[in-house]
Amino acid sequence: MMMELIKIEGGRPLSGTVKIDSAKNSTVALIPASILAESPVTLENIPSIVDVERLGEMIEQLGGTYRYDGDDDEDFIIDPTNLQNIPLLEGPVTQLRASYYFLGALLAKFKEVKIGMPGGCYLGPRPIDLHLKGFEALGATIEQEGGTIYMRAERLKGAKIYLDFPSVGATINIMIAASKAEGTTVIENAAKEPEIVDLSNLLNNMGAKIRGAGTDEIRIQGVDRLRGTRHAIIPDRIEAGTYIALAAAAAEEVKIDNIIPTHLDALISKLQEMGVDIEINTDSVTVRGGKALKAVDFKTSIYPGLATDLQQPLVTLVTQSDGVGMVEDTIYSDRFRNCYELNKMGANIRVQGNSAIIQGATPLRGARVMATDLRAGASLVIAALIAEGVTEIGNTYHIDRGYSNIEEKLTNLGAKIWREKE
Ligand code: EPU
Repeated sequence: MMMELIKIEGGRPLSGTVKIDSAKNSTVALIPASILAESPVTLENIPSIVDVERLGEMIEQLGGTYRYDGDDDEDFIIDPTNLQNIPLLEGPVTQLRASYYFLGALLAKFKEVKIGMPGGCYLGPRPIDLHLKGFEALGATIEQEGGTIYMRAERLKGAKIYLDFPSVGATINIMIAASKAEGTTVIENAAKEPEIVDLSNLLNNMGAKIRGAGTDEIRIQGVDRLRGTRHAIIPDRIEAGTYIALAAAAAEEVKIDNIIPTHLDALISKLQEMGVDIEINTDSVTVRGGKALKAVDFKTSIYPGLATDLQQPLVTLVTQSDGVGMVEDTIYSDRFRNCYELNKMGANIRVQGNSAIIQGATPLRGARVMATDLRAGASLVIAALIAEGVTEIGNTYHIDRGYSNIEEKLTNLGAKIWREKE
């Protein structure tokens, strides 16, 4: 099989403006949630990432349709009118994690669902026990056999659900399922990520009655019917944070535009602690390079803490900072595979369980490396931009799952980046 590589010739200072697209982790929840409507839903500014294509294929497998519209195909229109309850067992369902939102959506719509286990990045074990406990509390019975989950419910009834951990996925899945249950559901210790608020806004515009999204207690009063609507997706705080870290490493002056800076407070203060020159405006930030950076320690946590998804891009920046930085990922047990690849490029990182100790600053040189997962890919792209010589990054499909038009965006900033098959 031919392998595709992203190649980057490093060492060019970047300048210009990069416009951030809509949030992947919102979009992948909004698309499955849209099937609850009885008429078409339009999602504006759809990001051009592979996960969207996969979810579209799943809508088609279910007998619904989707199409792109608008001058730049920026609208994504889902028509769930003829949707049927067809088991999703093979193909796209296994290629991304968010396919599990069809559990909540199909359970709410048909009171029955059969689906293959979701795929996605390996970051250590990623159980879905909290999702399943939530569905059970709403009245579903669950059978699991091999890689298949089968759920059904005579009726879904609102319940009080306390999450042992404020899981993003479980909160979203329970919100989706409960929006058509009888009576009121209360999710306690709910996740507070901005993507939860975005989903709540979409569902409420479809006719749902959800209060409290963005706090740790969400109340969902079930309704019988939901209708189509238009919804503008929030900007991707992780894509934004990635480009901010990238600019801190490689920019002369780069403006990261179309963002909500408050979604990035934890990252921005960490970068300021490192000595990054960053100017914050209403819907953009500007990063100026050329400053000596000092190493920092950091720990990932749930929102509004420092997002685990930005941990790997930040590690690359710490390799360019003076001193020793200690990083702990409290969300995932195995999200440091990029470190072994960075070491091939000249970094000095020691991984111990869910922590990494980074000795900087080390010059980086081009090497052949693998994007072991999506954000590892981002971490390597940043490293490649500042490395001496050419870096070849394999497993590019991970990067394409979450970063839209990455070559175009980086080329516009003055980077030398291209793809090759071999
Ligand atoms: N967890 C459980 N049981 C559950 C659910 C989660 O033990 O039933 C644990 C997980 O194993 C993990 C932690 O809780 O250790 C966090 O999981 P969470 O459910 O919050 O994450 P997720 O919904 O699986 C989403 C994003 C991730 C992001 C996390 C944390 C999507 C599709 N994925 O995952 O995004 O890291 O929230 O913010 O929204 C990425 O974009 O690169 C990515 C991995």
